[in-house]
Amino acid sequence: MFPIERPRRLRSSERMRAMVRETRLSAAQLIYPMFVCPGSNVRTPISSMPGCFQLSIDLLVEECRKIEDLGVAGVILFGIPESKDPEGTAGYAEDGIVPKALRALKEAGITMLLWADVCMCEYTSHGHCGIIHDNDVDNDATLELLTRASVVYAKAGADIIAPSDMMDGRVAAIRDGLDAEGFANTPIVSYAAKYASAYYGPFREAAESAPQFGDRRSYQMDPANAEEALREVALDLEEGADIVMVKPALPYLDIIHRVKTTFQVPVAAYNVSGEYSMICAASEKGWIDKERVMMETLLGIRRAGADIILTYFAPEAARILGRD
Ligand code: PBG
Ligand code: ZN
Repeated sequence: MFPIERPRRLRSSERMRAMVRETRLSAAQLIYPMFVCPGSNVRTPISSMPGCFQLSIDLLVEECRKIEDLGVAGVILFGIPESKDPEGTAGYAEDGIVPKALRALKEAGITMLLWADVCMCEYTSHGHCGIIHDNDVDNDATLELLTRASVVYAKAGADIIAPSDMMDGRVAAIRDGLDAEGFANTPIVSYAAKYASAYYGPFREAAESAPQFGDRRSYQMDPANAEEALREVALDLEEGADIVMVKPALPYLDIIHRVKTTFQVPVAAYNVSGEYSMICAASEKGWIDKERVMMETLLGIRRAGADIILTYFAPEAARILGRD
């Protein structure tokens, strides 16, 4: 009770504050999303995501060398295919853009964790996350294709398989497929609580994956629901997910917290494109201090309960954090 208790005593110097700090950020828990496209020497800026590019495989490898040196834990790859069709065949072709990139990164000796995002929307002509029957995404027919893609990516060298499609039962289907092909030791990170969010806007420019009709609300979650997120997480864990993800991060910090306190498993949070772009835009206008807002944002996501953060800020943050 005042004046006996004076919380300011422990805030008196940076050393004192660092000693009692509860949450820390580390580059070892940051994953950098990257967009890989056909061609060579291609570096196409993504206008709504300053500092982010679609990179051809040669430049992707170069970039990954630098990012690895910063201590970043890994990268998650999104592919921009040569061509698209209704079945998204380029997404599970052995010589598709992502398997090619994975092989190139392994051959170049990159030791960062290589995450492969598994979804159909970058590869389907209609832009939906599965194949379409009767104007809706056919859940069970899509499972087979996601499983095929997962096995192709694992064979190409993916260290982690990360399905982002939100089909029911996909974790079990992918787990079975991986186990049957000798990849029992490849972990699955499921995008377990992925919301139908307007914050994905810039990503859809980056990945050229906007749905050509309708929206994703028949498979991604309603932003109003929290209990449903816990059910989704429970199901994915029963099906064999090793890590569960909440996405986006900032409007869903309560979900991150509830998932972390309900299930004692590693939790990842995706600090998505719109969250990144807003900070970049405000700082370009001179309205905020970008570096400080970035670090405070990432810290907040960790404090809410995320162990791992997928973020377009990974290299910039890692440069500030240093290696550990
Ligand atoms: C595709 C996918 C999306 C993101 C990651 N994987 C977009 C979507 O569902 O439309 C969004 C990432 C971001 O906004 O940074 N399934
Ligand atoms: Zn998708």
